Amino acid sequence: MSHIQSPKGTFDILPGALAEEPWQSSQLWKQVEDLVHEQCRRACIHEIRMPIFESTELFQKSTGESSDIVQKEMYTFDDKGDRSMTLRPEGTPGALRALIDANAFQKQSVNRVYYLGPMFRYERPQQGRYRQFHQFGIEILGPRSPWLDAEAISLGWNILSALGLQETELLINTLASDATRRTYQSALKDFLMSQESSLSEDSKRRLHTNPLRILDSKDAADRAIITGAPKLSQMLDDDSKRFFDQVLELLERACIRYTIDDKLVRGLDYYCDTVFEFQIKTIGAQSAVGGGGRYGRMLSEMGGPSLEGVGFACGMERLLQATLQAGQFSKPSSNCHCFMIALGHGAATTLFALINEGRQQNLCLEGWPSQDPKKLKQALQYADKLGARYVAILGDEELANGQVKLRHMGTREEISLPLAGLIEYLKRGL
Ligand code: HAM
Repeated sequence: MSHIQSPKGTFDILPGALAEEPWQSSQLWKQVEDLVHEQCRRACIHEIRMPIFESTELFQKSTGESSDIVQKEMYTFDDKGDRSMTLRPEGTPGALRALIDANAFQKQSVNRVYYLGPMFRYERPQQGRYRQFHQFGIEILGPRSPWLDAEAISLGWNILSALGLQETELLINTLASDATRRTYQSALKDFLMSQESSLSEDSKRRLHTNPLRILDSKDAADRAIITGAPKLSQMLDDDSKRFFDQVLELLERACIRYTIDDKLVRGLDYYCDTVFEFQIKTIGAQSAVGGGGRYGRMLSEMGGPSLEGVGFACGMERLLQATLQAGQFSKPSSNCHCFMIALGHGAATTLFALINEGRQQNLCLEGWPSQDPKKLKQALQYADKLGARYVAILGDEELANGQVKLRHMGTREEISLPLAGLIEYLKRGL
């Protein structure tokens, strides 16, 4: 069979020594994942793991029919029972569905969750944009309160700060209440209709599906037209304005720097009030390392109680790329305490049991049975590459004497010690 390539827009996360790009190293992924788990633990947010596929309807109804995700990016298939399923393009709808299914709101227990895992979008692959990518995300459900928006933002901010990403820019905007947004949307549409022929093809389409999205168009002609468009900030109702001002006040009190960007609308249909994005310009065109906002009706529309929600998600790939670029990763160190080489059948059987015993006592051990003493040099080279602290060598002669040779790979010093005392000796160095 000829070699089958991985699908376009996907990548492997590999042991550091094999990773083509440093951000694909599994050791670095683990560092970021550990940090996310730790920061969420500190904020008393609970982990949730949802299925990777859900009913297509879930995303159509929540992510929204007018979003690019639903219109053109979903991996949708019929299962063998003729049900339409979709590989999750984002985590928010699945997290809410899972909380409703678990009766979380009747039990009044958990209403703040985080998740970490793969998402799937059929996008044009490029640096920072993949078809299978990974997000960690946080969702906080509760009564409408600016506190929760500021809290979600502060959690994202803290995680980015803990990663050492000082260049992060927080962009924030309000999409106001549904009623105000509808009024604004029709004013915006009227304005844009008068310029329709000059708009880009994408924006012409959006004019009829979701005119707000035209505000964040990257097309130069669109941008010039938008400069003269009516502004939502000038049409805000009192409640939306007060809510937004309170979010900003809380951020200021927590020393979180932000920039108000009245063109920030985000690409998902469910947002109202606060929307925000964390950007790091130095990582290239895909500079949004994370984004989120408030969703007012999603939970109740999905059959849950009339609570609102707010959350965000960060792209793990972009986070890793930014952290590497900022030089903020600690060098991954080897954790192998001892690499054990057995020369001959008897030695292999004895070392096998010893390795097992050592691992039960917290030692990190790797072993290699070799029938051929000439391969010893090769085994030592491998142990060196592995970064093992010690190498233990057990041949027939040592076995007969109840001894083992132990080489310190840093100093190259070699000692002989009783085999029965090897585990204790290694444990002293822990
Ligand atoms: P989103 O803006 O679609 O929001 O995605 C969040 C982040 O995921 C982006 O800022 C980006 O870092 C990363 N991302 C998105 N698409 C890709 C891709 N194709 N390749 C690599 N990274 C990507 C959401 O997904 C919402 N669920 C966030 C949210 C949670 N809002 C409220 N709660």
